[in-house]
Amino acid sequence: MSEPIIKALDVAWIRLGAPDLDVAETFLTDFGLLRQVRTSDALYMRGTGEAHHLHITQRGPDRVLGIGFLAESEADLHRLAARAAGASGVMPLNEPGGGKVVRLKEHNGFTIEVVHGVASVAKLPERHSVMNTGAARERLGVFQRIDARPSQVKRMGHAVLSTPDIEASVAWAHRHLGFVVSEHVHAEDDPDLLLASFNRADRGDEFVDHHIMMFGRHQRAGLNHISYEVQDIDDLHAGHDWLKSQGHHHLWGIGRHLLGSQIFDYWKDPWGRVHEHWTDTDVLNAAMPARKVPRSQGLRSQWGPQAPQEFRDAASV
Ligand SMILES: [Fe+2]
Repeated sequence: MSEPIIKALDVAWIRLGAPDLDVAETFLTDFGLLRQVRTSDALYMRGTGEAHHLHITQRGPDRVLGIGFLAESEADLHRLAARAAGASGVMPLNEPGGGKVVRLKEHNGFTIEVVHGVASVAKLPERHSVMNTGAARERLGVFQRIDARPSQVKRMGHAVLSTPDIEASVAWAHRHLGFVVSEHVHAEDDPDLLLASFNRADRGDEFVDHHIMMFGRHQRAGLNHISYEVQDIDDLHAGHDWLKSQGHHHLWGIGRHLLGSQIFDYWKDPWGRVHEHWTDTDVLNAAMPARKVPRSQGLRSQWGPQAPQEFRDAASV
């Protein structure tokens, strides 16, 4: 395999179009994001981490407009602009948070925004539950009380694309963003038929999330879902109850994935785009080779419900 042009550090944001910013903000606030900036035509939502924003909604048709990834340096943006087929030049991001961007088209034509130099902001206070488990008592003389409230999103975790030509999609992500395979899922009776590809950032010895970009084989190309990390399992359950109480569309959960091991919960926004909450991911580093597993040992929940067809068919464009 050819050397990657750059190694992207992390996922940065999703950029979606929506015809009504009030409706979008209501859903995203109930989901646990916080308004950073709202202009007359766009909404920028943050989490409790240092990223200026993790979610952008632009007023307009309900479209997937781009997935953002962080580059390590501005030099990486210039490398991509020079070497990636169809890349834009290095351009200023003329929006809150600033920074610079190179826009690429991935294999199915979705826009990938590789960014550097976007402003960071001060972290916000976070609520973490201290658990007394069978192994250790760590909450001593303190009552556990969970308010009725949205989750507290910390950061963006990953993006997942449905794609008919999964091999080409994976190759594109490896070549342009430097991702490496954590686990590949193949058909039960055909080890050469790739069904799903979980890819992480290549940061050497540093442990990173099990996947930052995943691909699932599907007849339609589209955004299957985007995913945000919440604080812990109490925070995830509190957020679930809150979203339900506000009448939002629940899709799948609560459960624990097999691959990646996250405790998950999936919701649709008012235009059907799937937004995931998760907590407690596996983290891997360069010492851990890619694994290959059959479908029965990959695409299932360890506990909680199995994926409904509506989730498997999600492919927003
Ligand atoms: Fe996910």
